[in-house]
Amino acid sequence: MRKLFYIKTYGCQMNFYDSTKIQDILKPMGYTLSKEPENCELAILNTCHIREKASEKMYSDIGRLSKYKKNKKLAGGNMIIAICGCVAQAEGSEIIKRNKNVDIVLGPHNYHKLPSILSKNLKNPVIKNEFDVREKFNFFPKPSSSGVTAFVSIQEGCDKFCTFCVVPYTRGAEYSRNVLDISIEVKRLVSLGVREVTLLGQNVNAYNGKFDFQDSKNLYSLAQLCSFLSKIKGLERIRYITSHPADMTDELILEHKNNSKLMPYLHLPIQSGSNKILKEMNRRYTKETYLKIVEKLRNRTPKIALTSDFIVGFPGENKSDFDDTMDIVKSVKFAGSYSFKYSPRPGTPAFLKKFDLDDRIINDRLNILQKELNLQQKQFNEKCIGLKMKVLIEKFGTKKNQYVGRSEYLQPVHIFSRENLIGKLVKVTIKSLTSFSLHGTLS
Ligand code: SAH
Ligand code: SF4
Ligand code: F3S
Repeated sequence: MRKLFYIKTYGCQMNFYDSTKIQDILKPMGYTLSKEPENCELAILNTCHIREKASEKMYSDIGRLSKYKKNKKLAGGNMIIAICGCVAQAEGSEIIKRNKNVDIVLGPHNYHKLPSILSKNLKNPVIKNEFDVREKFNFFPKPSSSGVTAFVSIQEGCDKFCTFCVVPYTRGAEYSRNVLDISIEVKRLVSLGVREVTLLGQNVNAYNGKFDFQDSKNLYSLAQLCSFLSKIKGLERIRYITSHPADMTDELILEHKNNSKLMPYLHLPIQSGSNKILKEMNRRYTKETYLKIVEKLRNRTPKIALTSDFIVGFPGENKSDFDDTMDIVKSVKFAGSYSFKYSPRPGTPAFLKKFDLDDRIINDRLNILQKELNLQQKQFNEKCIGLKMKVLIEKFGTKKNQYVGRSEYLQPVHIFSRENLIGKLVKVTIKSLTSFSLHGTLS
């Protein structure tokens, strides 16, 4: 009998990668993906715990699913509700206490247990949140279908313990997959039509993997892994996310210069420009060391563009700390960035710090920062008009003969062509810009 499942993903790229793997696990079990949850036999929420809003959203979505579950029961069926991801890891049985309709709670290292859990008759709720990342990766099925670009998890977990962040508690200690397993996955993706991979890790440039499961001495860095993967025929582009400034080695900086497949676009979150706040955050670098990395990157690879994350309103942030953040933004000039209001997370060291900044002040600071970051992004995009850019075409546009691809800087680029260009790397002369999209002609 055909069974339907629904999956909603919140949070970072790693959660999206995990969700594709969950789908690959369910398909051989007879489950078919549905866009809507109403009539499904299984509804999964792959959740994020990073800020309070993200977790709260999950609870309101469980409420919505519970109504569908009741309707299904009235009609003689059932809907299994499974909560996966970082809230599942952090809150465990608390989730079931808050809503009895939840059947399964699975932390991020436990998805490979789904087949055995689902094959049994579920009488009582099942909670699994052991840390066992190695087994998770070993059990994940091979990718079955893909588009032009794909994510590949190469590293999971984090040993940095920034004082505001839940990730070391929800994803566990740093673990790097071995080079061989990663390259087998990438080769398979390429054989399915993928031309660009984004290597994922919570702290991806701390990657430190063995070549294979037996090789214990020789450890590969991210730079060496990128160099190794760039030899794969048919693979055109490599990206990686998210890097930590403290792990931005000279070797990796040089790899950007030497490896033409490695995109000149780097997400390197600074969080704050104040040394006092960076110390309080336990970020392990100063604004001076961050600026030094930027200088080295730009000296070696002049066309490299940078993006960042910022947290505004961390406990103890005063006007002069915020001014330091604005100074660094103005001196680096980012091609795009994310900025967030600090969200106190239970269980993290910063949660215990005195947090008495007026919400109005935090909002004002966030507005000032976002205005500047948006302006910088606009200026970066405007500078692309008139340039010849390499674009990897990913899909059809909404108009006849229109195609949409991405530049090296991940900007969406629209062009027209009579020939099918999907999966092709083409040169485009950029003619105009509409909000965040570039438009050009084949050159
Ligand atoms: N490993 C990455 C970040 C992962 S979390 C790094 O070290 O930069 C993604 C982003 O969420 C962070 O960069 C940070 O800006 C934001 N974030 C994490 N915890 C937060 C919190 N408690 N409140 C607000 N923003 C937070
Ligand atoms: Fe969180 Fe810091 Fe680890 Fe990034 S480096 S995941 S912000 S603890
Ligand atoms: Fe969220 Fe977990 Fe990713 S907390 S940002 S889904 S690692």
